[in-house]
Amino acid sequence: MKLNYGIIGTGMMGCEHIRNLKKIPNVDVVAIADPNKRSREWAKQTCRETFDPVLYASYEELLSKDNIDVVVVASPNHTHIDVMRKIFETDKHVLLEKPMCTNLSDGLEVLEMSKKHQGIVWIGLEYRFMAPIQSLINHVEEIGDIKMLSIREHRFPFLQKVENWNRFNKNTGGTLVEKCCHFFDLMNLMMPSKPIKVYASGDQSVNHLDEQYDGKIPDIIDNSFVLIDYEDGQRAMLDLCMFAEGGKYEQEIILTGDRGKLETHIPGNELLLTNRKLNSHSTIEIKEDLRVKEVGFHHGASYVEHLELIECIKTGNQPLVNCLDGLNSIILGMAAQESIKTGEAVNLKEFLKN
Ligand SMILES: NC(=O)c1ccc[n+]([C@@H]2O[C@H](COP(=O)([O-])OP(=O)(O)OC[C@H]3O[C@@H](n4cnc5c(N)ncnc54)[C@H](O)[C@@H]3O)[C@@H](O)[C@H]2O)c1
Repeated sequence: MKLNYGIIGTGMMGCEHIRNLKKIPNVDVVAIADPNKRSREWAKQTCRETFDPVLYASYEELLSKDNIDVVVVASPNHTHIDVMRKIFETDKHVLLEKPMCTNLSDGLEVLEMSKKHQGIVWIGLEYRFMAPIQSLINHVEEIGDIKMLSIREHRFPFLQKVENWNRFNKNTGGTLVEKCCHFFDLMNLMMPSKPIKVYASGDQSVNHLDEQYDGKIPDIIDNSFVLIDYEDGQRAMLDLCMFAEGGKYEQEIILTGDRGKLETHIPGNELLLTNRKLNSHSTIEIKEDLRVKEVGFHHGASYVEHLELIECIKTGNQPLVNCLDGLNSIILGMAAQESIKTGEAVNLKEFLKN
């Protein structure tokens, strides 16, 4: 079966998707849509020697074409809802980039519409497919009952984006939605019970304070501590700092159970398994995923996500990352943003009622 793709939004991430698709057999990128001429040209360059897509300025035009089986949505976060409304008028499969949406009502709308959609709706939370994360999940039974999860991301500031859409909360949903939905997704994946309460502290302390767009200074936070309490007494924590470039690791993940803990890093090829009874730890080598033919900016994970999506399309299986996963990841981000704003802990039940 050959699959024809249309890519909506061909900036940094749209072009990463094209580079992935170039290395996958039996796929063709037949159309791209982007209102920005430079981005369309960038996509054309990226496609060269493999694909020869028709270029559109409007995604509506792309979506009206019958020869497209799968759509990849990699336009800015605040555009996702309108693009998805149009996609739901078709029966095309879709890979919607994270974050699914920038606010709760749009997220709920996409979830509802996805239930009636003929095609697969897959959310681009590809951290799940990174080798260190897969390895950690594979060893989870060795640490007993999970009690704590700590995720640290210390990295470089947000990059410059096309027309600087990522400098303002109204476009991104806020840093903890935009970027950290990946980590909240991992928490949702690994923690054994439901999150009930979110406390966060954060600020824009260093980055983008000397920038202005149409007279406005960016309002996106660049550091935060987020704590999450779970129904069965577990807790998780996110430590985010976006003025920390140059470190050895971008992400550090520690999952602790009552018998031991698992610790890994991204990038990294080691998993540390601590055994409390033996009072020692062992190092497990992380095997690289031999399916990966394009590493990209996400350690091969966005390549694997395409392979898995294609497998679901071929077999008719349910998506591995669905709209409920997408929604649950942004809910934690939104609750954390709210906690920073009010200075109060956010009870998720109450938060979701409003
Ligand atoms: N999964 C990941 O790890 C990951 C990484 C980076 C970005 N992303 C997501 O991918 C999306 C794009 O981010 P990016 O970094 O590529 O940004 P970008 O600014 O580099 O590219 C966005 C492109 O979308 C285009 N665009 C704007 N409005 C559009 C519309 N209505 N229809 C079609 N195209 C439109 C812009 O002109 C631009 O070319 C965002 O949702 C972002 O959060 C995901």
